[in-house]
Amino acid sequence: MRMKRVVRPTVALVALVVGACVRPSATPVVSPSPAAPTPVASAPAAGVTARAAAVVPNPNAPKVLVIATGGTIAGVQDAPGTLGGYRAGTLTAEQITASVPELARYARIETEQFSNVASTLVTPEMWVKLAKRINVALQRGDLAGVVVTHGTDRLEETAFFLYLTVRSNKPVVVVGAQRPATGISPDGPINLLSAVRTAASPKAVQKGVMVVMDDRILSARESRKLYQRTGGFDTGDMGMLGVVASQGPEFFFAPVRRFGERSEFDLDRVDTLPKVELTMSYPGGTGQTFTTNPKGVVVATTGMTAAENATYRALRQTGVVVVTSFTSGENVNGGGGGGGGDGPPPARVDTTARRDSVARPVVAPVPPGVVALHLTATKARILLMVALTKTNDPREIQRIFNEY
Ligand code: SIN
Repeated sequence: MRMKRVVRPTVALVALVVGACVRPSATPVVSPSPAAPTPVASAPAAGVTARAAAVVPNPNAPKVLVIATGGTIAGVQDAPGTLGGYRAGTLTAEQITASVPELARYARIETEQFSNVASTLVTPEMWVKLAKRINVALQRGDLAGVVVTHGTDRLEETAFFLYLTVRSNKPVVVVGAQRPATGISPDGPINLLSAVRTAASPKAVQKGVMVVMDDRILSARESRKLYQRTGGFDTGDMGMLGVVASQGPEFFFAPVRRFGERSEFDLDRVDTLPKVELTMSYPGGTGQTFTTNPKGVVVATTGMTAAENATYRALRQTGVVVVTSFTSGENVNGGGGGGGGDGPPPARVDTTARRDSVARPVVAPVPPGVVALHLTATKARILLMVALTKTNDPREIQRIFNEY
């Protein structure tokens, strides 16, 4: 389902009220479950009308396209203004943007509904469609940037996929909220305002896809949901790119790895991504085997057992690309996988034929493993899926992991 409209605060507010009464949700309930089977999308309307009247839209502001996918930022409670449960992915793109009339000071907003779901329902096929849509939209000369509203459960993964596959240097900002739109002190409106101000800013050009939450500007490559409360997005050791201050976005750093126009990943002929499994190494573990092998496996590990090493070496021998990622995602050691791990070994050379005169079969070298540098296992999985659209060669995939 897709719709596209330029939103003016007054028109949108009418739509907000009308839409609020008729729009049922088809999305799952976010815990705790409300009892009523059919939710009613009530509008977070308190004070919005007065604020809209006070806003003087800037007719020369940059154009920003807000693409809505669902999530808590579009979440509505059966009992608004409480701490109660809600349905993620209920309000529409138009309703969300209309609830923040201040957007019109900083951007001329267009909206588009890509999906309206809890983000646990977002699939890799949806990532591909979304990235293609954004790539097309950003070719428009009159569009300054794109904001994607998204559930926070899977926000960092969608954002990283877009970081790898949106081949434009215009800003793309992914934003969510940890409190529903109808809740007490919702964080969605201020997050959306910060996201739009960032996407509209020339300072945000060439910074890659960003996550803007809680006044922080984070690189999509590094951002992670650490906890389920406001302020829960972080970048570990890598720090943030900047902040959204009262005067607007301020950047202090820029990412230096490959993204945007320098990305080699062209999705033009890609609709589905290669299957990549994610496994965990642990004391006494023996590694994961599969009835039907995936194209790749990512192992989250601080160091593998001998049995795990043997299992994953055997998988590599069959052509499966195996990536090790440090469990915390913080490791930048090229040895990868931790001290006892099986990082990329040199190709094994069989020397037995030279040492004795009896002819023995030459053992094919085991294809090397690949090591992820400062990536969580879930993000290493995404990079491997994208890399496998280009090549199955683990040496080339290691090159990709070193560059992105
Ligand atoms: C979701 O991810 O869709 C629900 C949770 C959230 O947005 O915070």
